[in-house]
Amino acid sequence: MSESKKIKSSEITDERTYLNRRNFIRTGVLAGAAVATGVGYRLFNPPPPKEVVTAEIDDVIRSKPTSLKDELTSFEDITNYNNYYEFTTSKTGVASAAENFVTKPWTVSVDGLVNKPKVFGIEELLKIEQEERIYRFRCVEGWSMVIPWVGFPIKKLLDKVEPQGKAKYVAFQTFYDGSNPKGKGVNLPKGDNGMQSSLSAGIEFPYLEGLRLDEALHPLAILATGIYGKLMPNQNGAPIRLVVPWKYGFKSIKSIVRITLTDKQPITTWSRSAPSEYGFYSNVNPKVDHPRWSQATERRIGEFGRRDTLMFNGYGEEVANLYKGMDLSKFY
Ligand code: MTE
Repeated sequence: MSESKKIKSSEITDERTYLNRRNFIRTGVLAGAAVATGVGYRLFNPPPPKEVVTAEIDDVIRSKPTSLKDELTSFEDITNYNNYYEFTTSKTGVASAAENFVTKPWTVSVDGLVNKPKVFGIEELLKIEQEERIYRFRCVEGWSMVIPWVGFPIKKLLDKVEPQGKAKYVAFQTFYDGSNPKGKGVNLPKGDNGMQSSLSAGIEFPYLEGLRLDEALHPLAILATGIYGKLMPNQNGAPIRLVVPWKYGFKSIKSIVRITLTDKQPITTWSRSAPSEYGFYSNVNPKVDHPRWSQATERRIGEFGRRDTLMFNGYGEEVANLYKGMDLSKFY
């Protein structure tokens, strides 16, 4: 991080300048497209984008200028096109549905095969040095974004609890209190948190994810506390979520309350729900198609047309050695 320097988060890529320019371009293009063809997917998206206001995170270490050449996805798109099934399965509806989700106070319990299990308050986790990480984000559904996350390597948290030699995996769990929406949550004050039942969402809650320990310890794997220099908006997984940029987006579990070190491969929500479609590893791989669609290309949100999907989402140089000797069509 020698080329990095500490900055006020307000100095991070100014999304307003970017947004205005982008909106201008988009409005122009869409108006043109609408006139020419009568089609423009945004024109048919009923809810207007929700403006998100969250506090800034101070003293973020900015990523190296060379970290990624791709153009950033706008703050507006990142916060209005979401997957968060606990709230709704409508991507454009998550921002509203999660509006009243209360994330203060918040604790993350780190336990299992560790020498020093501990329940961390979110304030303590926000005191860990926060870094900007601009990553490509590829959803298994075939869309992608480029997101300037703020966060810290998971390793920094795991080092504090001292994983034991037997620990081989890390299990993650999202907060869930849909059974009692009026709020007797483990760490929520009273109030309607807006979450729905497993039955209406179609997947079992709490949402579960997992990584191999060596994957979790990889320097690119982070726990994210914000985007664009601001605290994480509810719809993106406030107050803390996983981001593993070389894996499909569903591995990046939101609103984490528990992290458990284990010696067995943990159950994960999507592989339990549809094992023939989603595996434990879920590395981005253009050569291994989803049974119902190709993974060779993706739609970058904010762009027209499709672009080629990159092996390991473009992070092969850094992570391919984690999977040496593994047949990635079997370990999908
Ligand atoms: N985490 C929880 N708890 N619940 C979810 O429904 N959706 C996943 C992942 N993490 C999900 C979750 C999926 S499918 C994706 S693509 C990403 O979150 C979307 O993250 P974003 O809304 O910040 O883009």
